[in-house]
Amino acid sequence: MCGIIGYCGPKPAAPILIEGLKRLEYRGYDSAGICVGNNGELNVVKRKGKLQVLDAAVPADFPGWYGIGHTRWATHGEVNDTNAHPHIDRSGRIAIVHNGIIENYSALREKLEQDGHAFRTETDSEVIAYLLSTLYEGDLEQAVKQTCRILKGTYGIVAMHQEEPDLLIGARNGSPLVLGIGDKEMLLGSDVTALIAHTKQVVYIEDGEVVRVTPTSYRTTDLGDRQIDKRVDTISWELEEIEKDEFRHFMEKEIFEQPESIKRAMQGRVDHEHATAHLGGLNMSNRELLEIERVKLVAAGTSYHAGMVVSYLMESLARIPCNAELASELRYRNPIVERNTIYFVISQSGETADTLYAMRELQRKGARVLGICNVVGATIPRESDGGVYIHSGPEIAVASTKAFTSQLTALYLFTLLIARMRDMSYEQGLNFIEALDSIPALTRSVLDRHAEVEALAAKYCRAEDFLFLGRGINYPVALEGALKLKEISYIHAEGYSAAEIKHGPIALINESTPSLFIVPDDGLREKVISNMKEVKARKGPVIALAVEGDRDVAAIADDVFYVPKAGELVYPFAMMIPLQLFAYYCALQLGRDVDQPRNLAKSVTVE
Ligand code: G6P
Repeated sequence: MCGIIGYCGPKPAAPILIEGLKRLEYRGYDSAGICVGNNGELNVVKRKGKLQVLDAAVPADFPGWYGIGHTRWATHGEVNDTNAHPHIDRSGRIAIVHNGIIENYSALREKLEQDGHAFRTETDSEVIAYLLSTLYEGDLEQAVKQTCRILKGTYGIVAMHQEEPDLLIGARNGSPLVLGIGDKEMLLGSDVTALIAHTKQVVYIEDGEVVRVTPTSYRTTDLGDRQIDKRVDTISWELEEIEKDEFRHFMEKEIFEQPESIKRAMQGRVDHEHATAHLGGLNMSNRELLEIERVKLVAAGTSYHAGMVVSYLMESLARIPCNAELASELRYRNPIVERNTIYFVISQSGETADTLYAMRELQRKGARVLGICNVVGATIPRESDGGVYIHSGPEIAVASTKAFTSQLTALYLFTLLIARMRDMSYEQGLNFIEALDSIPALTRSVLDRHAEVEALAAKYCRAEDFLFLGRGINYPVALEGALKLKEISYIHAEGYSAAEIKHGPIALINESTPSLFIVPDDGLREKVISNMKEVKARKGPVIALAVEGDRDVAAIADDVFYVPKAGELVYPFAMMIPLQLFAYYCALQLGRDVDQPRNLAKSVTVE
């Protein structure tokens, strides 16, 4: 989704802005631009398309020591140079970049037009520049505050004025904004990846706050001018973590990192002595944990699929009613919040608007909401009542991979913790821990056979439609496999419960529609094999993910990929890896933009 960078300091601003935008590319965008202030004038360059286009359009000598930049993911108005940010007011003195959506922009625009302002773009953001210009009386900070009082909707804004050099004003309501404190230089960004090359010292700006930034100072106040003392946090990531290293794509790197990222999610959290887990961040006593009668998992996209997997696990191991819900649906259906129900919101980024707003709605109703997040310091972990960081390290590719398996890991540990307080015996706890401990090696051995998946992708990547089919705890894995394929290869793929195909999707089966079955050696194996036969009987090509040595499956399927034998409940990890690889290699062979697929954004901060 849109990205923001701002800079003021002793260095030429343009290269720093462009570099910051490159670090934000992963969020997804369709156009980009920068504005640099120099000697009482503002110079803007903005272009539709990739950053190379903008980079080529910025003159080598583009002077100025303070400026703002933006990558736009279109919401209002088509993708073109004009609608790209930064936007300047009619007089050309004020420039702004904006993330979020201004809900009352039509009314504001109409009013401004009546007052004689002619708009240049179709965006909602342009009204901010025009409002600022009408309210400006020699103090940009005050003009921003007055503007914020008028705006309705969500925003992260950075503004600059030609007559107030070396000054940036940032404001936030619902769209992330973080200040980076450097050596005689300051940066503002929509996430820390934009800043990390320059500083690790950051201040997270909160909703309702305005920050006044110069190269050597910053001051945070609310809209009523009350000073707010902020904590300076240190980013724990290293710059190398957001580099591709020897991999062709971030997605490839992140898929192959999983044995380590899963291990990190478990580190220090498994208590072998008592056959349980320690999750200190939950902020809950054992007594409170014991009182839980129901668990709800709320999320979007891949994180939702992780929640679905865990709902099967939780009911089977802890015998606690548990279900996963789409955050976007939950928020608007007036959810019933019951006592002794605990909610987990699951979000890699910790910024997804659907999930964040659902969390706030639940909290408003008095629910206890815990977060399962990757990005430290993001809005969800800051506002939740506790939670677990998954410690995957930065996930840059738009299609989520390592975050999924780490979300599973964290929630598997929670399940162990709560199951051991109920029916799960010490012995069973140890067995479960043994299965958990096996996951890193299990995923590594599947990754070692990546060439086999690449060959499958070469064989099938020209198919136009795909079915992904699984049952039980592997049904959500099928959904996630289909999601991965459509996200990055643009091949139409449907995920279904294998049992459900006879209720409709079987009508799609023909010689050119492959079905990918997940067939672990669990209690549903026979049933899934019957479903495979139904597809074969209709001449549908069948690919199967099965367990080493399963000859019955090999006798039916056209192609089989074997995973090592493992504990029943950890198959989602083993089965997910080949599905991620399959999507990756299909996209690669089709020449797709793997890390930044069309129309998608990494962190979706609008509803
Ligand atoms: C976007 C991303 C998905 C992600 C979903 C939820 O749609 O493209 O990859 O699964 O948001 O993101 P979250 O950060 O909340 O896990």
